[in-house]
Amino acid sequence: MPKDSLSITDNRTGKSYEIPIQNGCIKTADLRQIRVDDRDFGLMGYDPAFLNTANCKSSITYIDGDKGILEYRGYPIEQLAEKSSYLEVCYLLMNGELPTRKQLDDFIYTVTHHTYVHENVKAFMDGFRYDAHPMAMLASTVAALSAFYPEAKDIKDADVRRIQMIRMVAKMPTLAAFSYRHSMGLPYVYPNNDLSFVGNFLAMIKKIGTDTYKVNPVLEHALDVLFILHADHEQNCSTTAVRLVGSSQVDPFSAVAAGITALYGPLHGGANEAVLKMLRSIGSMSKVPEFIKQVKEGDGETRLMGFGHRVYKSYDPRAKVIKRVADEVFEVTGKNPLLDIALELERIALQDDYFVKRKLYPNVDFYSGLIYEAMGFQSEFFPVLFAIPRTVGWVSQWEEMVLDPEQKIARPRQVYTGAKRRDYVPFEAR
Ligand code: ACO
Repeated sequence: MPKDSLSITDNRTGKSYEIPIQNGCIKTADLRQIRVDDRDFGLMGYDPAFLNTANCKSSITYIDGDKGILEYRGYPIEQLAEKSSYLEVCYLLMNGELPTRKQLDDFIYTVTHHTYVHENVKAFMDGFRYDAHPMAMLASTVAALSAFYPEAKDIKDADVRRIQMIRMVAKMPTLAAFSYRHSMGLPYVYPNNDLSFVGNFLAMIKKIGTDTYKVNPVLEHALDVLFILHADHEQNCSTTAVRLVGSSQVDPFSAVAAGITALYGPLHGGANEAVLKMLRSIGSMSKVPEFIKQVKEGDGETRLMGFGHRVYKSYDPRAKVIKRVADEVFEVTGKNPLLDIALELERIALQDDYFVKRKLYPNVDFYSGLIYEAMGFQSEFFPVLFAIPRTVGWVSQWEEMVLDPEQKIARPRQVYTGAKRRDYVPFEAR
């Protein structure tokens, strides 16, 4: 009868150990008993960037990177993108089950009635210079919300927790739109409770003067689908940041602000902006083979941006949906001229041994930037368009972490490689 355990022999001592296996994991803390002698701290796992370390148990999002599967609470992303709405997905992620019609209506009502921000938040935003990056504005304003809602510190109270989660989902489009308007030198537009979540966001971005801005239903639907695709992605860099910071039991606004700053990085939420820069620098379809050659033969400095993923080793399922959305958007906005270069890059890369061998496929960012640009957003705003929908993932994962009895304050170990103990040397003797 096979046993769910791992037998280890320490060749330094000849001693053998049996470590239990649960959910396909060993607890690295169980390795601590493996010691050379009593002074030895015990064996640790060394895993920079968490390549093979699970930091939590989670029942929110499932990914099978080899098969290209993404599911929220068990529901395939393709079905949610086709049949659901962003706010319904928010309910699902936060509560674990799809809502009844009544539950969804109540949820939409509550989110809609929490979209306003305190007037002082506007003044806070006005303090930024005209050229401030909207992502920097968003991160600091979300952190500032912690000062507006001091009761948010009471993370043990379920009702208090829930209202902050709703506030964040609801206010993020308002803050994002304010950051956009600030950078464009335009007056802020207040939320309109008569519009949908996405329609209201687009109106806060686009409305000029007193003219009633008419939201284009195709673009509204496209952005709603993009929001669904970005709502959660299990333990990615920004979600891990939220969990790690939240593990100190700080309020959720501060924890989510950490997630936003993680998302700001070019290897995470900044990748679609990098894709557009890359496509522009390539310039034309005829230059694509030369660029691919440069990626393959370079020193790793030039990457095919929007390709490759830590988890997906096949086509990112979100990229497949996004390609369809792109066609719908371009019908309305006209085709983004960079699309042909992107399609040619994908065509060549998917046949090229270098990319095939390394299992490098287009990820979610390969096409999203093209859509955002066609919708009139400047590239600096792309990570903000990612942060708005990811907020529900962050707050759902944050609450799961708070309620998990196995979680403690996050505190990794290190392998110390510095100087051995030495005595202070006065200036004269250095
Ligand atoms: N172009 C060319 N080569 C690549 C690329 C790429 N985009 N991505 C990975 N590789 C190569 C690496 O050079 C490496 O080759 P080697 O084995 O010969 O050294 C191999 O593939 C493995 O790459 P790693 O960097 O070890 O993979 P890792 O899992 O650490 O990186 C990442 C994943 C950061 C996404 C990477 O693929 C990348 O930089 N892609 C471009 C940036 C990007 O699109 N980021 C968006 C990610 S999705 C998101 O955040 C929503």
